[in-house]
Amino acid sequence: MSFPLIRMRRLRKSAALRELAAETRLTAADLVYPMFINDQVHDRVAVSSMPGIYQESIDYALRTVESALNLGVKQLLLFGIPDEKDAEATSAWSEAGVVQKAIQAIKNQFASDVVVIADTCLCEYMNHGHCGIVMDGKVLNDPTLDILARTAVSQAEAGADIIAPSDMMDGRVAWIRQSLDDAGYDDIPILSYSAKYASAFYAPFRDAADSAPAFGDRKTYQMDPRNAREALIETELDLIEGADMVMVKPALSYLDVIYRIRQAVNLPLFAYSVSGEYSMIKAAAEAGWIDEQAVVLETLTSIKRAGADRVITYSALDAAEWLRLD
Ligand code: PBG
Repeated sequence: MSFPLIRMRRLRKSAALRELAAETRLTAADLVYPMFINDQVHDRVAVSSMPGIYQESIDYALRTVESALNLGVKQLLLFGIPDEKDAEATSAWSEAGVVQKAIQAIKNQFASDVVVIADTCLCEYMNHGHCGIVMDGKVLNDPTLDILARTAVSQAEAGADIIAPSDMMDGRVAWIRQSLDDAGYDDIPILSYSAKYASAFYAPFRDAADSAPAFGDRKTYQMDPRNAREALIETELDLIEGADMVMVKPALSYLDVIYRIRQAVNLPLFAYSVSGEYSMIKAAAEAGWIDEQAVVLETLTSIKRAGADRVITYSALDAAEWLRLD
């Protein structure tokens, strides 16, 4: 059978019919909002490379969380900008660390209304900006695992609901799982940044989190953008090591990877629509070249269509507002 019996346009005739035929639906519950906590600032300071995104004091962040919840965005991903950086990332695992204090404050006020995901990485806390211990210009794998695990346990102690290691060291998921279990946190899930690429799309984030590497790049630990099969192996290894949820990052240039992992994995799959994806849309919208709302919603929908269950996006609050008015 074909034309004129088949007419694909019949189901596109009205908004109501298009709604009926829609295969993918984006809702506020799909979105995770990343936040940058810097308790040295008064209220908040704008991140110049990411219009609409701020480093926020803990007090200010509490207000932001309240507005997020009012919009139906209940999942937050927290990053910290510490007072001091050193070669052991001491403030990453300190009880009085900025993220630990922020987690406590948020959980105190909002309890189980909110899901706090702690990004577990050392780069924001290292004086050289790499995600692991550095010796002779090399980022060491095994010595980094201890500090990472210590960081994860301190975040769990502070009340984090989910631990999300983003450093791409080998073996970190198993190491963190074991340390959490030993510390009595066997009920805290791990969301692993399992397929994280060495991407040029992270540039604006490094501004926001003040985490640019002082020398070299992250290509010895993050994945090569040319590889997709490798993403399946990375993901499988993380599952064997005990990851409860997995992630692909970035999102938009890696929709094929999201699709492939979706076929292989039945656990929740997150995609991180990263800073560069956000800032490109912002810049083009500010120049009047595209419609920000339409492009953001189309982009987020495409990430879900590719197979992601949840999307981490700096547009979470805007998108939730637009979806509500829709
Ligand atoms: C920390 C981390 C990075 C991002 C999330 N966690 C930066 C990096 O790996 O350099 C990037 C997020 C974004 O660009 O939005 N390792």
